[in-house]
Amino acid sequence: MSKLAVYPGSFDPITLGHLDIIERALEVFEQLEVVVVHNPTKKPFFTLAERVQMVTDSLIERNLLGRVTVSSLETGLLTDYAQKLGAKVLIKGFRTGVDIEYELPMARVNRDLNGIETVFLPSDPANTHISSSLVKQVAELGGEIVKYVPAAVIRGFKAKA
Ligand code: PNS
Repeated sequence: MSKLAVYPGSFDPITLGHLDIIERALEVFEQLEVVVVHNPTKKPFFTLAERVQMVTDSLIERNLLGRVTVSSLETGLLTDYAQKLGAKVLIKGFRTGVDIEYELPMARVNRDLNGIETVFLPSDPANTHISSSLVKQVAELGGEIVKYVPAAVIRGFKAKA
């Protein structure tokens, strides 16, 4: 049985939706490793190091660092990395069927590659409209994002301004 699960993503930046998934994954798994992944198909706003820092700071704010650890993956297969960590399970959150359409082939390929299973958690209905890309758009256009992201991310945007 798995004690450790890996929660991967771009986290550009981490949102309250991601944090809800982390908190609920901890109801199922003893230990969670958040892996901030460099996704070559996306051009990130925050660097990998900045994203790791914001994830770490938002976990500290919630007293979750410890049961949750954070690392990054610049290159290589996520399943190889998960295997090295001793994890057999990936956690993915989904908001709507659109997310499932995107995630399902990756889940199947990841299982094909190394037998790593994916556990999907449905987002809280209150978070269905929150996405990193909308947060970036609103923030860059001077809108209010406090309802969508942790304080560490507000600081992250201010530091970039
Ligand atoms: O938050 P995102 O960008 O939707 O996360 C996608 C991510 C980073 C989890 C995915 O692109 C990934 O797993 N990348 C790592 C490289 C890899 O293993 N690719 C094969 C996946 S089937």
